[in-house]
Parts: sequence; C-alpha cells; structure tokens
Amino acid sequence: MTHLRWHDYRYYPYERVLARREVLAVLGSGAIEESDNGLFLSAGVDREAAENLTYFSRVEGGKGVTHTTQARLEAAARSGRTRQATRYSVHGLHEYKGKFNPQVAKALLNIFGIGSSSKVLDPFCGSGTTLVECAHLGATGVGTDLNPLAVFITNAKLTCLSIPIHLLQEDFDRLCKHLKRLKKPRLGAPMNARDHYLRAWFVEEQLAVVESVMVSVRSVCAERAEVFLAIASNLLRDYSDQEPGDLRIRRRSSPMPEIPFEEAFYTACNKFLERVEAAQLVLGIRGKGSSAVLGDVRKSRNRTLTGPFDAAITSPPYATALPYIDTQRLSLVWLGLCEPSEIAGLDSALIGSREATTRQRKELQAKLDANLMKLPAEQNEFCRSLSNSIGPSDGFRRIAVPGLLYRYFSDMLDGFKSVAKHLRPHAPYALIVGHNHTVLGGTRKDINTPMHLASLAKAAGWEIEEVVPLQTYRRYGLHAVNAVETETLLILRNAGRPKSLV
Ligand SMILES: C[S@@+](CC[C@H](N)C(=O)[O-])C[C@H]1O[C@@H](n2cnc3c(N)ncnc32)[C@H](O)[C@@H]1O
Repeated sequence: MTHLRWHDYRYYPYERVLARREVLAVLGSGAIEESDNGLFLSAGVDREAAENLTYFSRVEGGKGVTHTTQARLEAAARSGRTRQATRYSVHGLHEYKGKFNPQVAKALLNIFGIGSSSKVLDPFCGSGTTLVECAHLGATGVGTDLNPLAVFITNAKLTCLSIPIHLLQEDFDRLCKHLKRLKKPRLGAPMNARDHYLRAWFVEEQLAVVESVMVSVRSVCAERAEVFLAIASNLLRDYSDQEPGDLRIRRRSSPMPEIPFEEAFYTACNKFLERVEAAQLVLGIRGKGSSAVLGDVRKSRNRTLTGPFDAAITSPPYATALPYIDTQRLSLVWLGLCEPSEIAGLDSALIGSREATTRQRKELQAKLDANLMKLPAEQNEFCRSLSNSIGPSDGFRRIAVPGLLYRYFSDMLDGFKSVAKHLRPHAPYALIVGHNHTVLGGTRKDINTPMHLASLAKAAGWEIEEVVPLQTYRRYGLHAVNAVETETLLILRNAGRPKSLV
C-alpha cells in the first residue's frame, strides 16, 4: 500500500483531476482510493517515478517517507501555506504577461510520458514555462516566440539551470562591488534612436542609474549578463514615466517607488539566486540542450526546430491578445532587442494583435466578407455574425473586432498546420486556451475560443482528443479586469505525418 499525500495548499478541482491522471500515467496503478489528505494506491510503486509527481508532497509506505521533487522545489518559494508556489526555481525571473501555471505544464509532461530522452516543443513559448519544466524533468525543450524579449527571458532561465550556481553568485558579488564603487552616474549626450526613446520615458537621473546597471552588468557578468539584465528589465517599467500597472501606455500618475532602483535590483537578484540555488540542490545541473529561438509559428520551414518532437505544450495568444510588445517596449529598446521604430511592426505581427491600420482593417473586412483565407464555415460564419451585430454606437476599435478575429483564426489555422509538421505521428499537442468576449451593438458576444481552436485544429488535420475545462484557472500577471477566469485544456493528437515531410 502506498499513500501519496497532497501538498498543504488549497486545490482547484481541475488540479485533483490532473493529479489522478498523472498517477495513472506515471505509476500505471489501477486501484486508487481518495483519503482526506491524498490518494491510497493498493500496490507498491516505483518510488523514483512517484517522486516526479506534481500534485503530491510525499510518498509514504514500503520504504518509508520521501518528499517529491516538486515539494522540495516549491518549499524555497512558498509565501504562505495556503497558496501554491508558482515562482519556484527560475520561474520568478521575470513577470512576463500571460505566463502560465508551471504545475499544469509539469503535470501535462508527466501525463504525456515525457522522460529524459524526449523532445518537447512550445511554439508560443513566452517566458519559457514549458521549457523550464522540461529541463526539470531532464527532457529537451525547444521554444519559439515572435517576441525577442520572450526568447531572451527563456534563454536566461535555461542558462541559470545549466551552469553551477556559484558562477552566478560570483558574478553578483562582483557586480555589487562594481556598482557600489561607481560615482553618481550621469548620462552622456544621446547617441542614437534608443537613447532618445529612453529619455522620453525616464527622468534623467533615473535613466542614468538604469544605464549604469546595464554597463556594469555587461562589463562584469560576461556571458551570463542576460540573467541580470532580465532581472533589471523586470523592474524597468516601475521606475519609468509609464503607468506601470497599465496594459496601455499612459503617462504615470502614481508615485515612483520609494526604494531606489539599485536596491530593488539587489533584492530581486538575491531572492532569485536563492531560488536557483535551492533548485540546483534538488535537481543538479539541468537544461543543457534546451533553448528558445526567435520564430513565427505560422512558418513551418523553421530550420532551428530540430524535431521531430514527442509532444507540444503551449498557451497560445488570446483572440485579442495581451499587449506583449507594448507593455514591454521599454525593456525591448533598453536591451537593444529592437529599435524604437520597429515596435509597432513587431506588435502588429503577433497573432491576436489588435493593431491594424485603417487600410489593413478594410482589407481584413473584405477578406472576411469573401472568406478569402478559406476558413471553415463555422469560424467564417461566426465572424460574419459579429460583423452583422455592429451598431451605430460602436467606435473605431469595436468595428475592427470581426476582421481581427478572422485574422486570428486564420493565423491559428496556419499555426496548427505548421506544428503538425514538427511532431511525431500521434504525438500529443496540449493548448491552454482562454475564453474571450466583446461587446457589439450594445450586446455582449462570447467568443468560445477553445471550441473555435478545436475546430480549426481539426481542419488542419489534428484529431481532437479532449476538451477539459480548467475552472478558475488564472493566468498570472494580469489585472483583475483582464484576468481570464476560465480556461480550457485542449488536447490534440497528430493524425500522421503530412505528405510534404514524408
Ligand atoms: C500566452 S503567451 C505564452 C506565455 C508562456 N506560456 C509563458 O508561460 O510565459 C503567448 C505568446 O505567443 C507569442 N506569439 C504571438 N504570435 C506568435 C507567432 N506568430 N509565433 C510565435 N509566437 C507568437 C507572444 O509573443 C506570446 O509570448
């Protein structure tokens, strides 16, 4: 008899469902009985495998009591007994918008039987939650994202897992000494578009401090500079003239933080390095061979995607996406990842973007009216019904929604076709998808994105295996008003190898 004990935080119902499925997949155990504080299995189990489970803290029975890897990882990052830790290991490096829950990613990897010889793709990898969980399990994770900041953050996280922690700690010690020796930093004359752009968004003395951190990190931390720059970039908006909590770009009305930038930076580095150290004590060195690359999921001929992959796990953009680029434009420019003049183009290139010029909007409407992108009837009719609901009081942004949604569906269809080419036949593809709504003609219109994506995936040749509602699942880093309260887990199977790659 084996007893698997729950963690002591509060569970959502879907977490218990995933927990049972993981047990079946990882331990292959038939008889499972639920107790107040866990699950009883009638047979003895493979301890090593059981220690990889996500939703259990301990394995009891037979050879005594052992803590799961997950419990040991989370212990270093728990802020209270009743809340699940989600910033353990390297997950807390950066508060990228729309990050998904690492426990869900890990549970899915276990359910799909991913092990140390497996390769997993996250085609919309964002800040790398899936890739980090792959690294924890010893698997190879490969990610693509069209946002250079996402790629930068993901690779910084993977670097932290793949080098001995003392190297980062030594960098940090040198960095602190270097920064403390500096006299009051001053800005030189602006040299380029980057400098002019940043001056428009920072008070001069503040920018001088931020720039001195950049110069010091680059000169002291060599090839590990990305880690410290990612931490600093996470603080950037808080110290700028932009309203930091806003999803739109507005001039700041809230007061500046009381803690100086350098101090906030030191505190963030210390906290982060402690968690990486704790993770390395539990896992050792991981993540070599995993990486994120800048790429567009709609383009299947991406040569950097060294598949075939055994599974794909992702959270795609919403139908009307979060402003991933807009809210991070200071970081993008500060890190030299894009020129100020490239921001708008980058923003409108992302799937789900709300950005479109008047001409593009008209073109989209024309495409929708004639279904030029050859979408399945269901999605085309849905977009047309939204078009027909537009009322006289709907402004410029609302009128554009049907056309933008049509473009989103068409992009996701291309994405499904492309991902299929990189996965093994019958390999699973899991997507955590948010619901949306819009208001047209004064009436709320629900957009059942998971159902539409399932239908598009089918049109792209995928088999729909399951559609599982994840009650009260919340994405992190969102405002209450923008938070998505219900998400759906969509599990697809690759129906077979497309002819073009056979
Ligand atoms: C919901 S976020 C992913 C968040 C990620 N799961 C995490 O935990 O950080 C969706 C991502 O899709 C990316 N994206 C949008 N259009 C894309 C495209 N055409 N190709 C690749 N990535 C794209 C966005 O930049 C964004 O990072």
